[in-house]
Amino acid sequence: MSSVIQTDEQPGTRPERRPAGRSVLMCRPEHFSVVYRINPWMDPAQPTDTSLALEQWQVLHDTYVGLGYDVRLIDPIAGLPDMVYAANGGFVIDGVAYGAKFTHAERQPEGPAYMDWFREAGFDVQVPEEVNEGEGDFLLVGDGILAGTGFRSHSLSHEELARISGREVVTLRLVNPSFYHLDTAVAVLDGTPGQEHIAYLPSAFDEASVGVLQERFPDAIIVNETDAAVLGLNSFSDGCNVVIAARATDFERQLREHGYNPIGVDLSELLLGGGGVKCCTLELRR
Ligand code: ARG
Repeated sequence: MSSVIQTDEQPGTRPERRPAGRSVLMCRPEHFSVVYRINPWMDPAQPTDTSLALEQWQVLHDTYVGLGYDVRLIDPIAGLPDMVYAANGGFVIDGVAYGAKFTHAERQPEGPAYMDWFREAGFDVQVPEEVNEGEGDFLLVGDGILAGTGFRSHSLSHEELARISGREVVTLRLVNPSFYHLDTAVAVLDGTPGQEHIAYLPSAFDEASVGVLQERFPDAIIVNETDAAVLGLNSFSDGCNVVIAARATDFERQLREHGYNPIGVDLSELLLGGGGVKCCTLELRR
């Protein structure tokens, strides 16, 4: 007698989920606090607990180590409380590190700090001319790059990255200030060329961008507003294991249905700065 597992996909159409090795850069939130407001999540009047932030961040770090990832660390700098959001430190592909040039003065010194780290780690650093916030707004999917604009990265940086990387860069316009970086509204679940799979929140984009996403990713997971509001999409996948906000319970179920292994973590303290799992993670691609 055989038992049948019900899924929403036809048997045999779903690629087997295989974890790929990952190399990531992180920054301990030693100096984390909310002392200015550059996104709607931040409220300097609300207290933050740096030691709790450190504890929660450590769980994320140890989760990556447990998954076998190569985890590198950049030294945190006093006076740069948002440096924990390493994803914004640049965009690294094929050994080339395209540096960040931050929108807000408060974060601008982070750009050169991350570029110094990339240089010392042996990456070919490309100093940016255009305003961009690194992997916060650039996501590699297949051979191309999805690029966000509207709140932070300027669309001219999309052209600059296309020139530097030699890859197709697809511009997507964000319209909801709560989802001000692309990595708060799109999760790349499988970036393998030929089996690209993403999840996203349609209401975070203008109509034309939703059209682009629908056309390119007809089988994408559509995440609900409740899960997006705990930055559920701000997750990190190796093609099989997907580290997500533990509170994004529907997204967790959707991931399971699609054959992934979701791993929930609680980064409630870092959410006070407007960031989650992915924001704390910069992928290094040699
Ligand atoms: N407080 C930071 C900012 O507003 C949060 C950055 C979140 N990072 C991200 N990749 N979405 O810039």
